[in-house]
Amino acid sequence: MKTINKNIIYLLTIFFLTFSAGSVSAQTAEGSGTSQETLIMIVMGLVLLVAILVLVVAIYMVMVIKSILKREEKIAAMEKGIKYIEEEKESWWTRINNKLNRSVPVEEESEVLLDHDYDGIKELDNHLPPWWKALFYFTVIVSVIYLFVYHVIPIFPLQEEEYAMELEKAEELQASLAASGSVETIDINNPEPSDDPTDISSGQSVFNINCLSCHAADGGGGIGPNLTDNYWLHGGDFQSIFDTVHEGVSGTSMIAWKNVLTPVQIRDVSSYIQTLVGTTPANPKAPEGELYEPSEMSVDQVEASADTVATETDSLQTN
Ligand code: HEC
Repeated sequence: MKTINKNIIYLLTIFFLTFSAGSVSAQTAEGSGTSQETLIMIVMGLVLLVAILVLVVAIYMVMVIKSILKREEKIAAMEKGIKYIEEEKESWWTRINNKLNRSVPVEEESEVLLDHDYDGIKELDNHLPPWWKALFYFTVIVSVIYLFVYHVIPIFPLQEEEYAMELEKAEELQASLAASGSVETIDINNPEPSDDPTDISSGQSVFNINCLSCHAADGGGGIGPNLTDNYWLHGGDFQSIFDTVHEGVSGTSMIAWKNVLTPVQIRDVSSYIQTLVGTTPANPKAPEGELYEPSEMSVDQVEASADTVATETDSLQTN
């Protein structure tokens, strides 16, 4: 009896502790301006918790009352000098288990024994266990329902239709996003470098978080190659740098960053890498790969350099 009392006190303590902890967290959630939904979830969680605890306490009380009654019966039996016999009751679990299996007890096996003998191996004619049959009937019923709702009166879409619907939805979303101009989209097959200072500085922070450990903060190289020289293992034009970062180099520690970074981030970091080319790092790694020829310059760059030449001639003329 004493231990039961102790247990109840223990349970009640836990109950109040959880309850007070819950209300504290609810208050902080409110304070930090969490959305209404989170608050409702917390409150609902608390209500559930309280309900479970009440149930646990109720079960405990029933157990306590039962044990008190049993004790009194025992005392009464002792007073009358009768031997108290505890009735052996099957637990609900044993009952369910028996119902589900309905296996023949070993003592009664002779009743289901078939009368043939294969080299000493005998066969019992056991029926299939009820749980197995129930499962089988269930699958039959489900298959009929499935056939009906997917093929006879097709109220649910089949995989192909579902795929088409998802695609349509995605296209709509893409169109609406493009129309609002709130997201930048990048054509990964033809990425354009950016010279916008905000893009370059976002590229720099991407580089400092993800790439610095192998390529050094100034791009001088380490585990990975030097990114400041004009020698490239996988090509020095923008598309090649973008691709190397996007796809990685399999078999090396240069992973496919498309799984980590967004296309815009890859565009930014690749643009940032291009600004490193020609700088002098503190500990430059020896050049690797092939020299990237300026003749491979993009049309834009060629035009830009043509412009510079033109301006120079202009200024020469004015002088
Ligand atoms: C765990 C080390 C590691 C990290 C982190 C890493 N790289 Fe690399 N990177 C390498 C290695 C190694 C190579 C050379 C692969 C080879 O041998 O072909 C490489 C190659 C490259 C190349 C091609 C160089 C060339 O010569 O063609 C570029 C560009 C590059 N990395 C950019 C990045 C960027 C951008 C990041 C961060 C988003 C990054 N790397 C993060 C290890 C790394």
